[in-house]
Amino acid sequence: MKILIVEDEDDLRAVMGFYIESELGIEAIFAGSLKEARAVLNQVSSLDAVVCDFALGDGTAEDVYLHLKGVNPGIPFILCGSYGPETYPGFVGENISGWVPKDQVFGRLKEILEDVLSLQSKAASQSELKGPAYMRVRTDTVLKLGLLSCDLFIKLPQDRFIRVYRSGDVFEAEDFERFREKKVAFLYFRTRDREALFQRLQADLVHLSNLRTAPLGTVLRVSTSALEVIGDFTRRFGFTPEIQELTRANVEFAVKNIQQSGTLGPLFQELILDSESYVASHGVALAYLCCGIASLMGWRSDVTFYKLTLAAFLHDLLISNQSIAEIQTVAELNKRRSDFTPDEIRSWLEHPKSCADLIRGLREMPLDVDTVILQHHERPEGSGFPAQLNNLTITPLSAVFILSHELLAEFYRRDPLATDARPLVEFLNGLSDDYNQGYFKNLLRVVTQALIIDQI
Ligand SMILES: [Fe+2]
Ligand SMILES: [Fe+2]
Repeated sequence: MKILIVEDEDDLRAVMGFYIESELGIEAIFAGSLKEARAVLNQVSSLDAVVCDFALGDGTAEDVYLHLKGVNPGIPFILCGSYGPETYPGFVGENISGWVPKDQVFGRLKEILEDVLSLQSKAASQSELKGPAYMRVRTDTVLKLGLLSCDLFIKLPQDRFIRVYRSGDVFEAEDFERFREKKVAFLYFRTRDREALFQRLQADLVHLSNLRTAPLGTVLRVSTSALEVIGDFTRRFGFTPEIQELTRANVEFAVKNIQQSGTLGPLFQELILDSESYVASHGVALAYLCCGIASLMGWRSDVTFYKLTLAAFLHDLLISNQSIAEIQTVAELNKRRSDFTPDEIRSWLEHPKSCADLIRGLREMPLDVDTVILQHHERPEGSGFPAQLNNLTITPLSAVFILSHELLAEFYRRDPLATDARPLVEFLNGLSDDYNQGYFKNLLRVVTQALIIDQI
């Protein structure tokens, strides 16, 4: 690290340099005038801060600051003088890093430099990691985790963070309510702790898998939390080996529970959509529904359940805006274009392909899962996207997925407390004739029958 000290009094300049180098271990370089300061700023690009006396023989700190802004605007500037920066027109409205009154030059300068330089080193380590130093997690996800595996922070203005929980603390419903009342929806953890968070989630999944009879509501909540973390991290860091591992654990956990559950009736009681985490809660619900419908067709193998669950978990994962994720067709999107940014629209239109590419990156990906994801917005009448396939060209597994997806969307449109299956049957009966051909024909028949005799 290197700091420029601009000071016209020779003795003071030398002592300040010694002090900074011995106290903070930082190299100091010097300028004794405005002219020298300009020359150093023109030549040295790797400075970490500038400490500048106000009155210089041939100018002032305002001149040095103006020059610094012109050649290297990101460098912290600390004013050293008898009066604060607001006294000088050249600093009014400028966000300089600090002011050191001349009579407190040593103690205060050290404090400010420690502050400024730790922010600098934080920013540097961020760019090395290509990610932020802190990551956010929803308070309701924290509630689901219960026992905390890492410290948690709240975020203050100007990207400052204050620790509010320590690793090992328990986060309970009361805590969640307290934050909700204050409208705090997110807490933050250090990015370097993310592995601990993963391990905790994975341990929860394994623990619940080993319980003979975990309540369905708990099972769905844990899967949803894990999927939410998987989505959040994948969008930031990519589909890394650690995220793939957590995905695998989550899929295996869900498949095990799906195999143990009988009919889908109890599932519908628990399917309350969380619109704030639409992608995750919708993905988990869809996995259960797809496997239930595949069972009705007699497809009950582990491999089929595994493929459908994996596809359900990942099919919308790269959509970051939860509200655009609820849109099902291009026609619907066109009506609501003004609600979203061009980037959000592009990412939604590309998501069948980008999510299929994502799953292709999974080591030992089971066959066909990428196809199901790629085809999940196709429709039997040929009105879907991206390839306008039809009931003859959509694959059988994709047909199960598409019909489940439609049924779930219809279920969400209804009153969540209604237990009557008749509106769902009416919905299926009202689907176009194209659903009565190709692979869709049998599917539609068995699902309608199951709903009528209350198997679902
Ligand atoms: Fe989708
Ligand atoms: Fe979806």
